[in-house]
Amino acid sequence: MGLELSGNARTERKKVSVADFSKMKTHGQRIVMVTSYDYPTSTIADDVGVDSILVGDSYGMVVLGYDTTIPVTVEELLPICRAVRRGASHSLLVGDMPFLSFQISEEDAIRNAGRFIKEGRMEAVKIEGGREMAHIARAVSNAGIPVLGHIGLTPQTSTLHGGYRVQGKNADSSESLVKDAKSLEDAGVFGIVLEMITEEVARVITQTVSVPTIGIGSGRYCDGQVLVLHDVLGLYPRFVPKFAKQYADLASTIKKAVAEYASDVRQGTFPEEKHVFKMDDAERDKLDLRQKS
Ligand code: KIV
Repeated sequence: MGLELSGNARTERKKVSVADFSKMKTHGQRIVMVTSYDYPTSTIADDVGVDSILVGDSYGMVVLGYDTTIPVTVEELLPICRAVRRGASHSLLVGDMPFLSFQISEEDAIRNAGRFIKEGRMEAVKIEGGREMAHIARAVSNAGIPVLGHIGLTPQTSTLHGGYRVQGKNADSSESLVKDAKSLEDAGVFGIVLEMITEEVARVITQTVSVPTIGIGSGRYCDGQVLVLHDVLGLYPRFVPKFAKQYADLASTIKKAVAEYASDVRQGTFPEEKHVFKMDDAERDKLDLRQKS
């Protein structure tokens, strides 16, 4: 798994499977996951050799500009999944099941998860929730669709849990999170995202379950890490979470480029000679003659 580069040349890389996640945990190899919502960024992430790409419902916030992930629908995510799929040939592709696409019934969850696989061309789905959603995770997994769990801060139901708050700050809530993780493991998930859980509790969960944990804001001891691509790139200036490391400042880069373009157009310095298309000399002569007559 991971990056296999010789010099600048990209060598053949093995497709990452759900089974590889488990092997990586066994071998202590950290799993790298990032979100993507389009063809160019999934191509880049896949070329770099990330192990997994998540088409997250965070798309609703960082791309569509919603305040929360709640309004996101399956219909909105499916074309995005297909675009991501076209760019990625190596990473394990996970589609995020949006709010109310899996909570209503097991049957509904299987049907919608199936759409992510059949129409979205994803290889697995992510489902938010702990013990209360374990029966759903089991039903989807029993239908033959790999499921990634997601506990801790679960943005789709954050209002129920007092907003975007760090989870696992006391002994009771810690026990509850460990129970959540265990019940998802029993339900057959192939991994569990731990979002904004205290480092101590994330460590206990990681040591307790046999499936890999993928942390986001849950400290250093998870089996892997996931970040929202727009946070990595500095492309969501509205809010930068404490746990996210910004590796680039694309918002400033884009702002500068667009401002320069606007200024060039206004001053007439774009387009230049090299940007224009010309007629053949003979055709230009004909045109000149016609204009003169
Ligand atoms: O939607 C998303 O991007 C997620 C990650 C934060 C794990 O669920």
